[in-house]
Amino acid sequence: MLAQTLCSLLLLPTGIRKAYAQSTSSSTIACNNSPSLCDRAYNNVTYLGAHNSPFVRDASNNYDISGNQYYNSTAQLAAGVRLLSAQVQTNSSSGELHVCHTSCSLFDAGKLSDWLSEVNDWLMDNPDDVVTVLLVNGADASASDLAAEYETAGISDIAYTPSSSSGNSSTSTVSSTAASASSTASADWPTLQALINSGTRMLNFVADLDDNSGAAYLMNEFDYIFENDYDNVSPTAYSCEPDRPSSVANDTQQALDQGLMPLMNHFLYVEVVALDIQYPNATYVTTTNAPNGGTGNLGASASRCTSEYGRAPTFILVDFFNVGPAIETVDRLNGVTRPVGRTSVADEVMSTSGATTARLHAGMAMLCLTVWVMLLGVA
Ligand SMILES: *[C@@H]1O[C@H](CO)[C@@H](O)[C@H](O)[C@H]1NC(C)=O
Ligand SMILES: *[C@@H]1O[C@H](CO)[C@@H](O)[C@H](O)[C@H]1NC(C)=O
Ligand SMILES: *[C@@H]1O[C@H](CO)[C@@H](O)[C@H](O)[C@H]1NC(C)=O
Ligand SMILES: *[C@@H]1O[C@H](CO)[C@@H](O)[C@H](O)[C@H]1NC(C)=O
Ligand SMILES: *[C@@H]1O[C@H](CO)[C@@H](O)[C@H](O)[C@H]1NC(C)=O
Ligand SMILES: *[C@@H]1O[C@H](CO)[C@@H](O)[C@H](O)[C@H]1NC(C)=O
Repeated sequence: MLAQTLCSLLLLPTGIRKAYAQSTSSSTIACNNSPSLCDRAYNNVTYLGAHNSPFVRDASNNYDISGNQYYNSTAQLAAGVRLLSAQVQTNSSSGELHVCHTSCSLFDAGKLSDWLSEVNDWLMDNPDDVVTVLLVNGADASASDLAAEYETAGISDIAYTPSSSSGNSSTSTVSSTAASASSTASADWPTLQALINSGTRMLNFVADLDDNSGAAYLMNEFDYIFENDYDNVSPTAYSCEPDRPSSVANDTQQALDQGLMPLMNHFLYVEVVALDIQYPNATYVTTTNAPNGGTGNLGASASRCTSEYGRAPTFILVDFFNVGPAIETVDRLNGVTRPVGRTSVADEVMSTSGATTARLHAGMAMLCLTVWVMLLGVA
């Protein structure tokens, strides 16, 4: 108990400090932390993504092993993260849409509308930034149900609506050759400056949302993006090959020809085979997120995927984004050497063996219960 308290005290974030406080020039506008990105098309920038952004592992929940990040979404954005992913589930006691990890009985980070509102608040405070949200639709919510959450959060005009021909160009008529389809899809994305000028600075993807009638700003993820496999338990297992959508699985050329943007998942799970559960591997994350050095480091994976795709990935999704620091690899891909206006956070793993072990037992008991309840078909 005493040890636990001491650990919590010792593990408090060492404080957020302003990095790169002096920007280059007050007359230069920095788009997503750099003037050099303003004229780049949306799909020609690499964005650092916080995987499961709302699921924060910190002292308030005793470093819950279901948490994927150490800092909340606001702090992630301030530190340079520009893609936030979240899982949407139904909270069974209220029937509301919440952001929950796997199940709301396992890890419930509150109402979807509250989380969206947090993102919106940050966007309002930061008028030269473009943010992408990726919702995993575990609740199988309809476009109108999701749109109601956006409305409650006060989000309407700021959400970008694609022109009808962006994304999966095979859905748009006329041009049928892969080459022309590709160039059409790529050319359709505006530059960051254009998104900023038009005030449509929030791009929203949902996996999956086959019918977005009435909410055209909710883009069906796999009409625009392909992802490599995310389910890795070994640092030697990362692959750049497309995994989803299944229509382009293991076919990089076809994925690129369709104009789909590459999303590179790069995070590691711990697998507990006996229980058939997985949780984020924090003990190896200093290597997982490193710009170089060690098996399965982020910098090496990013270089490999860039070479296989003939272009950098558009999105790189990581757990515990502050460690590495992961942003270093993204800055390298973007050619950004002097980022402007970023708040940096401590590059540290925030748990001790004591806290982790204690949580592990509690977490496993919870996971066991969840699996058991699900098997019973109650959840
Ligand atoms: C952006 O374009 C440049 C020049 O073609 C290319 O080298 C880079 O990989 C592209 N980056 C992304 C993220 O598309
Ligand atoms: C996010 O975390 C910071 C500390 O890192 C805290 O000051 C802020 O209140 C939190 N914001 C929200 C919306 O929880
Ligand atoms: C639902 O939400 C309530 C209030 O936010 C929370 O207390 C409860 O644990 C959540 N989980 C489930 C499974 O309903
Ligand atoms: C693109 O659209 C076509 C026609 O609707 C569909 O067959 C194909 O699976 C889609 N591809 C992707 C990657 O969504
Ligand atoms: C893609 O390739 C991997 C590795 O060879 C294989 O395990 C997987 O089944 C393939 N997927 C599809 C859909 O062909
Ligand atoms: C995390 O991954 C590393 C590398 O595979 C492994 O050595 C370590 O045991 C894993 N951590 C846990 C808690 O299993």
